[in-house]
Amino acid sequence: MVRVSVPGKVHLIGEHAVVYGEPAILAAVDMRTFVEAEKADEVSFNHFTDTEHFDTFSVEEILEAGRKAEELWKEGFEKKDFSHIFSFVKGNDFRKAGIGIILDRLGIDSGVKVQVDSKLPMGSGLGSSSSISVALVKAIAEAHGKSLSKEEVNNLAYELEKLKHGTPSGGDNTACCFGGLVWFQKASPKNIIQPLEKEISHKLENFVLVYTKAPEKTTGELVSLVRNLEENFKDQRVKHIGKMAHEMREILKHKNYSRMKEIINETHKNLSELGVSIPEMEQIASEVRNIGGAAKLCGAGGGGTMLCWHEDKQKLANLIKDLGYTPWETELAVEGVTVL
Ligand code: MEV
Repeated sequence: MVRVSVPGKVHLIGEHAVVYGEPAILAAVDMRTFVEAEKADEVSFNHFTDTEHFDTFSVEEILEAGRKAEELWKEGFEKKDFSHIFSFVKGNDFRKAGIGIILDRLGIDSGVKVQVDSKLPMGSGLGSSSSISVALVKAIAEAHGKSLSKEEVNNLAYELEKLKHGTPSGGDNTACCFGGLVWFQKASPKNIIQPLEKEISHKLENFVLVYTKAPEKTTGELVSLVRNLEENFKDQRVKHIGKMAHEMREILKHKNYSRMKEIINETHKNLSELGVSIPEMEQIASEVRNIGGAAKLCGAGGGGTMLCWHEDKQKLANLIKDLGYTPWETELAVEGVTVL
């Protein structure tokens, strides 16, 4: 039996803008997904909510689910409407289709028993689905004696991410797979992926995460919402976030925290204008700014998590508690996919 561990991720900057080719800076967060896998005759996996209950399918059924999902994705891509594939992979059917694609691509014709246990709430903006996709690929490959490079794991995990999010940037799975602090930019023929640990070697401190509530919309739906905004309005904000991502890279190097705070707050303002914030997030952002800190929503938004920063971390944590939320003090830039 193989046990794999994969972190979640948080965007320091660049979510949504990254979908249109702007750069993003992502850090792996120490809230992890664990997947256990072992070879079997059939394919079985546990439920999201109940780790004891397993569904079992024949290998052929699983491969068929994978084929069907890829067909629906292609259809969605052509019609610019991913609603069919999104409803096909709702809930546990994502695992069915995802495992089908993994078995197919890795040329595996026998089954596997998979148990997923994730500490990341779904839709939290912390890369829960990417973390699961990366973990599934790595664990299933290892259980069948295939040792894939991180790049191979990442590329296959991206195929799974497409089922859930339509046309994701690939930034989330990259951060979860490689870990650390990553500069990511979608590009053709190859995405730009640069580990930033050498140039930003100090610890990223005084960040606190706050989980607001589960989003009503999925990542795919929120990305579509932004995509359908008036072109000029969207482009201005997307380009501005991209410009700030370049500046953020320099600022992090030089620990220029006062400018970093301005950039985080300005990024939140732009994301909010793109329509992916909610009143709870606006309240937190404004209260954190009032005590001299910075806060922005993370990932697709519409709820989920906020990333907050203050020189005085305790003061920030106290404010968050006073607002009725729990501050999460997780380590940033942690190790990516690992076999335990
Ligand atoms: C979601 O965590 C981040 C988005 O930028 C989507 C993506 O990068 O694919 C909203």
